[in-house]
Amino acid sequence: MASDTLTITDNRTGTLYEVPITDDTIRAIDLRKIKVNADDFGMMTYDPAFMNTAACRSAITFIDGDRGILRYRGYPIEQVAEQASFLEVAYLLNYGELPTKAEIDAWEHDIRYHTYVHTNVIKFLEGFRYDAHPMGMLLGTIGGLSTFYPDAKDVHDPANRKIQKIRLMAKLPTIAAFCFRHSRGLPYEFPRNDLDYIGNFVNMTFSIGGKHEPNPVLQRALEILLILHADHEQNCSTSAVRAVGSSGVDPFSAVSAGIAALYGPLHGGANEAVLQMLDEIGTKDRIPAFIEAVKNGGDRLMGFGHRVYKSYDPRAKLIKQVAYDVFQQTGLNPKLEIALELERIALEDDYFISRKLYPNVDFYSGLIYQAMGYPTDFFTVLFALGRLPGWLAQWEEMITDKEQKIARPRQIYTGEDARDFVPLVMRK
Ligand code: SDX
Repeated sequence: MASDTLTITDNRTGTLYEVPITDDTIRAIDLRKIKVNADDFGMMTYDPAFMNTAACRSAITFIDGDRGILRYRGYPIEQVAEQASFLEVAYLLNYGELPTKAEIDAWEHDIRYHTYVHTNVIKFLEGFRYDAHPMGMLLGTIGGLSTFYPDAKDVHDPANRKIQKIRLMAKLPTIAAFCFRHSRGLPYEFPRNDLDYIGNFVNMTFSIGGKHEPNPVLQRALEILLILHADHEQNCSTSAVRAVGSSGVDPFSAVSAGIAALYGPLHGGANEAVLQMLDEIGTKDRIPAFIEAVKNGGDRLMGFGHRVYKSYDPRAKLIKQVAYDVFQQTGLNPKLEIALELERIALEDDYFISRKLYPNVDFYSGLIYQAMGYPTDFFTVLFALGRLPGWLAQWEEMITDKEQKIARPRQIYTGEDARDFVPLVMRK
């Protein structure tokens, strides 16, 4: 008779075990009863890089990698990207429902009136070298921001969590823009309350002498890109925010861990690496040689492949559409031609097809950011700006999840057996 259990036979002892199945998973802890000797520790699962391990229950984002589906709180990414503002999406991810007019007005108001940072933050930023990578600056500064809000340690107080989330949503764009200005040797442009979230960020980044002619098409394109990056279930940086946050540390410190993870070229740093790859290829006629190098393992096709999507990343499709709107305003990015040809060849080549390697969110985003005037090393900062609401929503879901506790995986020990210490004089 069918039942929601797994029957496991341990062939070492002939013993049978019944393990309950819930949500098509088994609890790893249920395997600990599988032992050869009564005083054994019991069985564990071994899953390097968590290829097949669910670390939490989450109601925030749903991805179907085979069907290329992405939903925020049940809403398809295509509809959200087309109809929502970034702050609406941030509210949806964090509070589970699309905000009413009163709710979004309050949310926008609260964020608008927290955009300033303590002037000491400016001194902190001035400590970085003129050529410091903006992600390194963002990482250090957001972590340092925790020292300005010691009350943020009270992570179990819902009202406190809300004000810290508002502070991070409001101040990360300010700090990101300041990192840009620092790298350009430009004076800081301070937040303005007469501008909306995107307009304020663009103004703090690009204005000269307090003036910046806003381009509504480019600002909406940037907003759509931030929406597409807002959350992506248990990706590397979100897992870092959850793991670090599980120690009970404040959200500024937990988010700085997410920024650190996102910095990596295999994750958020890929959008920067795509542009470097396109520069390295240089011209269309050099694409075949590059593809060969990738197939020989000498290079990676950055912006391709995904742990979950084994079909076209739905975000990449939407970003490709945004690219055309942007290039109508800015003129065609010459590298787009190389990217499109690279994609065409890769999608026909068995090496990529057999490995289910398709363009991901990072393949086209960098081309758009470059056309908007952002330098390559700033692309991942823009990714962090987009991912922040997702990190905050996942952090709070972890904090309020009764099943969660401090993250502390086990290991398979492969080192030396017990041995006696050897005094220095006796070592050979
Ligand atoms: C993001 O998790 C998320 O949701 C991430 C993200 C988000 O929104 O948070 O979607 C954002 O990080 C997108 C991914 C950006 N990274 C890149 O574009 C870097 C290039 N891509 C990869 O390095 C790779 O595809 C990963 C890291 C994205 C996924 O790696 P996996 O799942 O660990 O797969 P793998 O490295 O084990 O590769 C499987 C096979 C290997 O070949 P074989 O050993 O079987 O012969 O595919 C090959 C890999 O060599 N492969 C690639 C490749 N990606 C995988 N070969 C060439 N080029 C690539 N890009």
